[in-house]
Amino acid sequence: MAIDTTVVIPGLEGVPIAASSISLVDGDGGRLYYRGYSIEELTLGTSFEEVIALLYDGELPNAARTAEIVAEIEAGRALTPAQIQIARDLATVTHPMFALQAAVAALAPKVNNFDQGDFEAATHRGIALTAKVGHLVGVIAQAAAGRPYDGPRPGETMAHMTLRMLTGTEPTELHERVMNALLVLQADHSAANASTFTTRVVTSTKAEPEAVVSAAIGALSGPAHGGANEASLRMFMEIKDPARAEEVVTGMIDRKDRIPGVGHRVYKVKDPRSTVIQRLADEVLVRDADKAFYSIALTIERIVKERFGTRGLWPNVDLFSGCVFGALDIPIDFFTPCFAAARTAGWSVNIVEQLQSGNRLFRPDQLWVGPEPRAFVPIEAR
Ligand SMILES: CC(C)(COP(=O)(O)OP(=O)(O)OC[C@H]1O[C@@H](n2cnc3c(N)ncnc32)[C@H](O)[C@@H]1OP(=O)(O)O)[C@@H](O)C(=O)NCCC(=O)NCCS
Repeated sequence: MAIDTTVVIPGLEGVPIAASSISLVDGDGGRLYYRGYSIEELTLGTSFEEVIALLYDGELPNAARTAEIVAEIEAGRALTPAQIQIARDLATVTHPMFALQAAVAALAPKVNNFDQGDFEAATHRGIALTAKVGHLVGVIAQAAAGRPYDGPRPGETMAHMTLRMLTGTEPTELHERVMNALLVLQADHSAANASTFTTRVVTSTKAEPEAVVSAAIGALSGPAHGGANEASLRMFMEIKDPARAEEVVTGMIDRKDRIPGVGHRVYKVKDPRSTVIQRLADEVLVRDADKAFYSIALTIERIVKERFGTRGLWPNVDLFSGCVFGALDIPIDFFTPCFAAARTAGWSVNIVEQLQSGNRLFRPDQLWVGPEPRAFVPIEAR
């Protein structure tokens, strides 16, 4: 294939960076599939644990495989007292997303010699890492709220554990079900989104999986990526009254401000994840304040459709996800860490697929636009 080496492709838009069979984003059709199964169906009751098995194995797990992966997740999520203390200390000094990034890096072993050829070991390491990241999010939330450590319980699902540790209360059956659907919904989104691409790049340097996931968390933290769920709810909090939403958003559009939760590089129709989130919102929003935020989101959706629909600019998952996270009593600065807990599943599977692909080092090129080589000038002559 001839590559035009005379032009830069900003954002690598349209450039395939991997051959993948994990998840498919159909941007024109507005669909998302994990291993061929639609996200609409997977969020109707499949557990996050089953989805982790699906992402790794390529097939929906039967009862025996489900029991096996549940046991592996339960064993894998254990943290040492030192790892818990590090995460608790980090929670007091920085945003939970950066605390999580640092705490995940601190899970890496003292030696730096990850065996790139042992796909089986990489799989088990990734399953444990997915379990540990959910646990860490809970640890950081407990410390941030000044609560003592109260870790995973035997037999507790990932959804129940994460939500209980985040909120400090026993989740209702409905809230656990919605949390599970959120974890499933955000578990993967192709190999080429910014954080999963980061996963691929860092894996290609033969780094330890914990270093890979830590880097991916950094990529996810940005408001152009995962941080948009927090940004959109903060915007709703500022708007406050649904009656003001139209005026505020119209003003933002006229000023050419970016509206968080709107637009997507790949989806040119409505993001299928927002359709699922809206289904969950219908179930879980009961308080007036939560309903007011949702009403603001719906007004923004209407205006964005009117003003931008023909240009292929639509609401994405993050316009609505903050409303649902909020209705579950998850603190606002933990929306993106929750996203990270879910997405660690996809990142870890992408690590294995990257290793299996031969794992060639990502080392693209640049176009040089700087000065020609020139003579050094000593400081006294400058
Ligand atoms: C996600 C995002 C980075 C994708 O951007 P992209 O593919 O690089 O799109 P571009 O930046 O090239 O924007 C294309 C056009 O749409 C407009 N646009 C894109 N997102 C917009 C938004 N959120 N609000 C208002 N206008 C937006 C741009 O201003 C640009 O308009 P122009 O052609 O008149 O200059 C971008 O849509 C965005 O910043 N969205 C808000 C953050 C967000 O919700 N992120 C979560 C994604 S799941």
